[in-house]
Amino acid sequence: MYVNKFIVVEGIDGSGKSTLCSFLVKILYSLGIKKVLLVRDPGGNNFSEKIRDLIFSKNVDYSMISKKSILLMIYASRVQLIEKTILPAINSGYYVISDRFYVSTLAYQGCGWNIEKKIILLLNKKFINFYPHLTFYLNISPLIAIQRLLKFKNLDFIESQGISFLYKINFFYKNYFSNLSNIIELNGNLCKKKIFLELKNKLFLWLNKKCIHD
Ligand SMILES: Nc1ncnc2c1ncn2[C@@H]1O[C@H](COP(=O)(O)OP(=O)(O)O)[C@@H](O)[C@H]1O
Ligand SMILES: [Mg+2]
Repeated sequence: MYVNKFIVVEGIDGSGKSTLCSFLVKILYSLGIKKVLLVRDPGGNNFSEKIRDLIFSKNVDYSMISKKSILLMIYASRVQLIEKTILPAINSGYYVISDRFYVSTLAYQGCGWNIEKKIILLLNKKFINFYPHLTFYLNISPLIAIQRLLKFKNLDFIESQGISFLYKINFFYKNYFSNLSNIIELNGNLCKKKIFLELKNKLFLWLNKKCIHD
């Protein structure tokens, strides 16, 4: 099911997703669209954030944790997010913007950790079956992304997997999105101001086109 008013932002760590999400909220507000909900995945509501905290806990020896266990926790968080937060918001007329969604799982857990793609697709089919109307993909040089991350924060265990890991993930995103139609790619290497303008132009075009088809 492709869900109207559901917008996702994807890209590698440090590509500027959270920044872009805040830009999206600002632009929609400036258009008079006040019913906007911003969430992140995993996370996005009380219980899902608790699962997120467990996934990214600082006190865990990740060499002792099964990758499939983490995969299932991500899905536990996502199901809760969809059923209890995203769907009710969309049914009340909100635009929902999600910082990451299921393509992140295909990229990180599938391509990055070599968990069989068919397992992830099965989880999607059985538990999610809910897809964004539009996805923004921030395509950035992993070198720039990692420099930004190192400058501003302590890395979590997924972000700490190194530059070659980020190259692999970005390559996956690029290929995956090249076959889909409801994707807008943005150049994440640009400065914030340029990205904001590029986003604004592309979002306007999309909203206009959407109005014609609605
Ligand atoms: N276009 C940009 N140019 C320079 N710095 C940026 C840009 N976009 C984001 N940043 C900075 O880089 C860091 C990572 O950005 P963030 O939006 O948190 O990325 P992500 O959510 O993809 O990990 C933040 O400190 C942010 O302020
Ligand atoms: Mg972020």
